[in-house]
Amino acid sequence: GKTIIKDKLNRPLRDLRISVIDRCNFRCQYCMPAEIFGPDFAFLPKSELLSYEEIERLAKLFIELGVEKIRLTGGEPLMRKDLPILVKKLHQLEGLKDIALTTNGVMLPKYAEELFEAGLMRVNISLDSLKDELFGKINGRNVGVGPVIKGIEAAKKAGLGVKINMVVKKGLNDSEILPMAEFCKKEGLELRYIEYMDVGSTNGWKMDDVITKKQIYDMLSQHHELEPVDPDYYGEVAKKYRYKGTAINVGFISSVSESFCSSCTRSRLSANGQIFTCLFNGNGHDIRDFMRAGATDDELRERVTAIWNHRTDRYSDERTAETAGKRKKKIEMSYIGG
Ligand code: GTP
Ligand code: 5AD
Ligand code: SF4
Ligand code: SF4
Repeated sequence: GKTIIKDKLNRPLRDLRISVIDRCNFRCQYCMPAEIFGPDFAFLPKSELLSYEEIERLAKLFIELGVEKIRLTGGEPLMRKDLPILVKKLHQLEGLKDIALTTNGVMLPKYAEELFEAGLMRVNISLDSLKDELFGKINGRNVGVGPVIKGIEAAKKAGLGVKINMVVKKGLNDSEILPMAEFCKKEGLELRYIEYMDVGSTNGWKMDDVITKKQIYDMLSQHHELEPVDPDYYGEVAKKYRYKGTAINVGFISSVSESFCSSCTRSRLSANGQIFTCLFNGNGHDIRDFMRAGATDDELRERVTAIWNHRTDRYSDERTAETAGKRKKKIEMSYIGG
């Protein structure tokens, strides 16, 4: 059985997002701009990263405290050596309904099959444009669309569920809103439009850069008839619609214009073993060193319970144009996995 724990706003702990590595083979402007994450940037050394055994142990304890959904993130999670080994360990834990991965997709041709065999259920693949030149500029590494499409195909072929994440930034890729819809509809893929967020302190976010859910919905509904779809699970981040007369969904992640903190059941474990209670709360709570110092399972469960019981975060609910980006302590997206 599970012990259900609640935070200060009565939200249970249901999801665990685990960042397995802080490195990435892309340099997306909105996440890890190349000017800052350059050749001299100090990424975490291996000794700082949680080992797969440590992640497995913590995941088991989180599951006992209510977690039913685990998502692996990064950086780029497939840059961590032998990721299928971790997936297999997590898959063997009792009490999980969902194991997923968020990735830029380019390493999927190599790993999709192994990941599926290991027990991974689905992948969310980021793709912000269908134009090679624009996409190469956004990802900061001049990688064209081809390698991502190959990754999408490999994931489908392996039997993984696939959704596409598109971060929309005004003046950068808003011209791709409709082409991406057409492409994903044709391919039978669920596309989620993501409002550009003020995560971290390096992406230079301005409210004016955001294209809202409503603006995108209005554009889309001029070309497609849409009907609302119920969420797949309590607190699902994306608001979903279906192209009428099809089984294909399209979603919106409207963290800026319509926040969803009141149903936020997500905890985050960073690559170096800190627990974060909100994407925008840079105050991490150490669990790694406590564990390495010999804490028992009971002690670890107590610490996680205390952290969750104290949680009051509702950053997106409180954000205004004035407060945006002005948190005391910030945490980079690549460190915490979105
Ligand atoms: P599903 O399990 O498929 O619903 O995935 P997901 O949308 O929860 O996760 P994914 O990693 O694909 O994230 C998509 C976008 O939602 C990213 O931009 C995330 O940063 C954002 N996101 C996910 N969880 C939260 C959250 O708790 N708060 C905010 N503000 N954004 C979130
Ligand atoms: N705003 C919104 N989404 C972002 N992502 C990365 N940076 C941002 C940002 N500033 C997305 C990635 C990926 C997911 C984990 O988070 O595109 O799909
Ligand atoms: Fe890498 Fe994803 Fe960040 Fe892009 S958004 S730099 S692919 S972690
Ligand atoms: Fe959860 Fe924080 Fe995102 Fe709100 S802003 S949904 S509390 S992670």
